[in-house]
Amino acid sequence: MKNALLVTAHPYTESFNFTLRTQAIELLNKFDWQVNTSDLYQQGFNPILGPADFPNISASVPLSLPKQQEIAHQQALFSNDISSEQSKLLDANLLILQFPLWWGSYPAILKGWIERVISRGYGYGSNNLLSGKRVLLSVTTGGANDDDEIEYYQKKIQELGVDVFPYAKMEVLKPIINHGPSHSNEKQRKNLLSSSKNQLISLLSA
Ligand SMILES: Cc1cc2nc3c(=O)[nH]c(=O)nc-3n(C[C@H](O)[C@H](O)[C@H](O)COP(=O)(O)O)c2cc1C
Repeated sequence: MKNALLVTAHPYTESFNFTLRTQAIELLNKFDWQVNTSDLYQQGFNPILGPADFPNISASVPLSLPKQQEIAHQQALFSNDISSEQSKLLDANLLILQFPLWWGSYPAILKGWIERVISRGYGYGSNNLLSGKRVLLSVTTGGANDDDEIEYYQKKIQELGVDVFPYAKMEVLKPIINHGPSHSNEKQRKNLLSSSKNQLISLLSA
């Protein structure tokens, strides 16, 4: 079964990011993929890794977050918001992260999702439950003025995944990058959407 998890990190449903999200869902459905979604702002996802992740863990466990994550996974002691995201991710062969580039990186809410959900003992360490899953970063930027800037962003966005996903033995796909949707007119936005659609089609057909 082809199953995707599409995680979106943008506060506005009218945004270009959400237009990309809608397009991706329609396309995945058309290609017979089952799609699960996480809309982090709408969910009010808490991005802060900390003791609230393990509300029922024994006080005798050492105060080491990776160790606590490992025990929480082994004993099913994660908070519900984490375990429900982990279970959606386990069902997926493809993880799509849809987000705007904020200060050269993920929006904080998505960085927190990664920190809390791709935990030790689940994604890496004693278990590699995400091994072999593919991950696609679909990113919008404020704009690129020339080929040098396009190349700069390409490198930067490719590097965003490097420390996390290969560590969890996931395969990082070539990112889909849309430059400057908020400075584009309707025709330019249509072209961006159409190019993203073609890139996604070729990924899904591979
Ligand atoms: C806090 C913040 C930081 C940003 N940092 C960057 C950045 O580092 N590089 C960049 O190209 N654009 C940056 N931007 C612009 C956003 O990437 C851009 O507004 C967004 O991708 C447009 O997509 P949207 O219309 O769906 O919001 C930033 C925007 C905000 C709000």
